[in-house]
Amino acid sequence: MQSVTNQLTRLISDIFSQLGYDPAFGSVIASDRPDRCQFQCNGAFAAAKAARQNPVEIAAHIVNILRRDHRFSNVQTVGGFINLTLNDQTILYIATQLYDDPYAGVPQTTQPETIFLDYGGPNIAKPLHIGHLRAAVIGQALKNLVRATGRTAVSDIHLGDWGLPMGLVIAQLCEGHPAAFSDSAGHLTAQQLNTLYPLAAARGKTDPDFLQTARQITASLQMGDPKYTAIWKRISELSVKDLKSTYADLCIDFDLWQGESDAAQYIPALLTLLREKHLLRHSDGALVTDVTTPFDNPPLPPVLLQNKNGGSTYAATDLAAVMQRQKDFAPNQIWYIVDKRQHLHFQQVFRCAEKAGVAAPGVLRHLEFGTMNGRNGKPFKTRDGGVMQLSELFNAVYHSAYDRLKNSPHSPKPSIADTAHDLAVAAIKFGDLCNHRSKDYIFDPEKFLAKEGKSGGFLLYTTARINSLLAKADKPPQFTLRGVYSQHERDLLLTLLMDSDACTTAWKEAAPNYICESAYRIACAFSAFYHNCPILQEQDTDKRASRLSLCLLTKKILENRLRILGISPVEQM
Ligand code: ARG
Repeated sequence: MQSVTNQLTRLISDIFSQLGYDPAFGSVIASDRPDRCQFQCNGAFAAAKAARQNPVEIAAHIVNILRRDHRFSNVQTVGGFINLTLNDQTILYIATQLYDDPYAGVPQTTQPETIFLDYGGPNIAKPLHIGHLRAAVIGQALKNLVRATGRTAVSDIHLGDWGLPMGLVIAQLCEGHPAAFSDSAGHLTAQQLNTLYPLAAARGKTDPDFLQTARQITASLQMGDPKYTAIWKRISELSVKDLKSTYADLCIDFDLWQGESDAAQYIPALLTLLREKHLLRHSDGALVTDVTTPFDNPPLPPVLLQNKNGGSTYAATDLAAVMQRQKDFAPNQIWYIVDKRQHLHFQQVFRCAEKAGVAAPGVLRHLEFGTMNGRNGKPFKTRDGGVMQLSELFNAVYHSAYDRLKNSPHSPKPSIADTAHDLAVAAIKFGDLCNHRSKDYIFDPEKFLAKEGKSGGFLLYTTARINSLLAKADKPPQFTLRGVYSQHERDLLLTLLMDSDACTTAWKEAAPNYICESAYRIACAFSAFYHNCPILQEQDTDKRASRLSLCLLTKKILENRLRILGISPVEQM
């Protein structure tokens, strides 16, 4: 369906056009003075400027025409602004359209499109830590949003499984665990792996000989040495199993579990292409491509594609992955949901891809995000200053959620454990997603779990409240909106109708926080309605039926939006 502001925009654009003005002036938005009107159009000012006329007169003309339209209860002009208020019948009519809309009001694309999303990006051989949280949470929500708009989404985790970290771990393994050299490399456990990586990484920083060995091993691995390949395979299997279980706890999934190693097979073709286009140059034994232009200040450094050892680089695997994705899916866009500290890397990679003709301009987008901080405003750390594992963080939030629910007066359904899981996921995800992704935010589990305020806890609590109320209605209520009996109902209906615009903005900016804001407004409006209007106790059958219908509509929209955010609604808590 068309959003209500779109329907009104069409109406007013036609009038501008009838009067001889550009229809683009007819854009209608939600009112910024809800005490005066529900919607507004500010186009008379721009129209007046273009036609060298008086905005007040243009607005008066339009208002005169609109006054004949029975769908408005009030149309006014105030100093050139056009203020619009729909009558209740019209609101109920559009609300019923919304209830019947199979897409729950999410504006649908008219063009089939495929968006490829690259998020997650953990390196194998080490457990997920809190630095991996944002990519996963934002990436998953964006994937759901892409699908909700009728587009095709393909997601890939893009494992870091081909660079120096592999060489470092294998170098350490070869010394400490010769048994791992057996053909199957079967003796290695996930736990051993988790202790190995930090050791190897630290040693790589202080021991130049060790680093040199690790570099050689990386290059040999990349050239297909069978001994290293066997160990690498074992590391990869163990690690992927571990990663899958942590992501599953957070309800995060990927269509593809590819890695840098899968992209690597495209590197020779990439280098050939760059060579043919005269874009490749030798520099100190390495291969680089220049990507800077005279407009860059400071200039962009050249992209390093192959280092002195013949090993391929992070940039080379990213470029090769673009080729692979083009071949496999021909996506309209590829989105990289990666920390903003990698801004330069993506700038270089995108330039190079565009220069080489591997991707057209505008296809590759880095959707960068900020840092998750602790309460002290500094990057989140464990008590002893270390980096916290993601599973540890999730378990802590889960236990707090469990403790809260244990003491709750309503017994959580289906069970305390399941509800605590959903609550923990909601708290973590909403706490992250309600900030624009480009901003830093403070991780505060107590606030995130709270029943009140802009939190996942409040949103989930609202769905539980609606669900238990509907369960208490004698028989499953039919959807039948019969009237608007109070301002609380009108406010809730309008908040629900306006939500489509939040989805549009979220899509345009690839920023789920607009959906969070709107879901929060819906939950607040529902809460005011619930506390002020009798529903199950209402004696008047029309009112009761209508209010129950409003609960059904709220449930439909709110649960749909939470699912887009990657949050499961609950039955009772
Ligand atoms: N593995 C990388 C890292 O740990 C992140 C990968 C992000 N995605 C990408 N296509 N480069 O920094």
